[in-house]
Amino acid sequence: MNITIIGTGYVGLTTGVVFNFLGHKVTCLDIDEKKIEKLKKASLPFYEPGLKQMLSLTSKKIHFTTEPKEAVADADAIFITVGTPSLSDGSPDLSFVREAARTIGKYLNSRTVVVNKSTVPIGSGNWVEALISEALSENGTKHSFAVASNPEFLREGAALHDALYPDRVVVGSDNGQALETLYALYKPVLEQTFTAPNFLPRPEGLSAIPFITTNLASAELIKYAANSFLALKISFINEIGELAERVGANITEIAKAIGLDKRIGARFLQAGIGWGGSCFGKDTAALEATAREYGIPMHTIRASREINNRQRERVVEKLLHELKILKGKTIGILGLAFKPQTDDLRESAALDIAKRLIERGVTLRVHDPVAMDCAREQYPDLNLSFQTEAEEVAQNADAIILATEWPEYRDLNWENISKKMRQPLLLDGRNFLDKERLIRAGFRYLGIGR
Ligand code: UGA
Repeated sequence: MNITIIGTGYVGLTTGVVFNFLGHKVTCLDIDEKKIEKLKKASLPFYEPGLKQMLSLTSKKIHFTTEPKEAVADADAIFITVGTPSLSDGSPDLSFVREAARTIGKYLNSRTVVVNKSTVPIGSGNWVEALISEALSENGTKHSFAVASNPEFLREGAALHDALYPDRVVVGSDNGQALETLYALYKPVLEQTFTAPNFLPRPEGLSAIPFITTNLASAELIKYAANSFLALKISFINEIGELAERVGANITEIAKAIGLDKRIGARFLQAGIGWGGSCFGKDTAALEATAREYGIPMHTIRASREINNRQRERVVEKLLHELKILKGKTIGILGLAFKPQTDDLRESAALDIAKRLIERGVTLRVHDPVAMDCAREQYPDLNLSFQTEAEEVAQNADAIILATEWPEYRDLNWENISKKMRQPLLLDGRNFLDKERLIRAGFRYLGIGR
């Protein structure tokens, strides 16, 4: 099929690369000329494991362009994968979706399926349909098209894996033809009939992926419900963790024991400094905002957001308790990205904590294996002292916070690190390091919830 992807962020680019890998002709459209120029040279605008490798396999066959006319004409399916960042009241900014829909309406010249993959509020599928129809009638043209919602569940840092081996594919549409087109498009993934790339082997035993078809509103709500539930799971374990700390219990053992109950499940029960990233904060806020329009208060969603904010403040409280006075102290931060295997800093807990500490007069020495260039560029006023070697965050420091669990931090030379510090205090914000080893290296070790 001829597939067009509008928006080349994590979701758009991964989707384009994967459909191309599966044998479709793909055109990626973006308004950002610099990004498109980079992509034409198989260079990525962000860090995502495996994607560069996959792109170098496919980039000669994917067409990258800023020209909407050539991108939209003759496409069998057009995916909208543009950003929907939060506005100040929590509702999503839909201006990029509006623009994409209007562009489609302006240049459409054959029958097509328009697929909303951006995370959009309930009712957006109908709104996109209306925008396209409006643009078509402004042009005096009449082409038939169908709209579908196909929410994306891939994680940054594991985007390709999740796109090739998803837990499920969800498609919402009232149009049978749209459902058929999307089924055909996803068939090799649903039946796992493609030859797995050698750098991303198929998980053992994976043979069929559920294909969930539903109406537009359900598909849109499924995305918000999934992200909100994951965020809630993390906030739940963090709330229990605060109590665990007080009563002398250990949240890691609690999470393991409750996670063995198949009804609960072990994943997303890792206590720590809380969730960040571009999705959980935005989507929980959007869900609350939508529900507010219907007079529904969404207590669990609100609580999970409050607990998440509290986790970050608790880091400051713990340091205050240990160091007594923060003003004039030096603290090292290991990890800036919102999670490992990405250079994405959006809503990163590390940076939020950094800002809170700076407000209290702390000097920060920071390190991240891949996100430091982004941090320099995006936070020029934060006055962070960037260290090229992780160990250097320890120089004359009064404490170190492990904020992102990059695997390389596990085996640092902790003996050396403790000797460089004014006080060897380590706050393991992800309960990630080997506590006994840290204690042997001379550290006072603090975890979260234990
Ligand atoms: C999340 C969802 O997991 C994806 O399914 C979804 O497609 C995506 O949002 C999206 O809507 O685009 P992502 O934000 O990339 O993916 O990252 P996650 O792996 O979900 O992690 C989010 C945050 O939760 C990170 O800050 C991570 O450190 C934190 N986390 C995760 C915990 O604190 N504890 C855990 O047990 C798991």
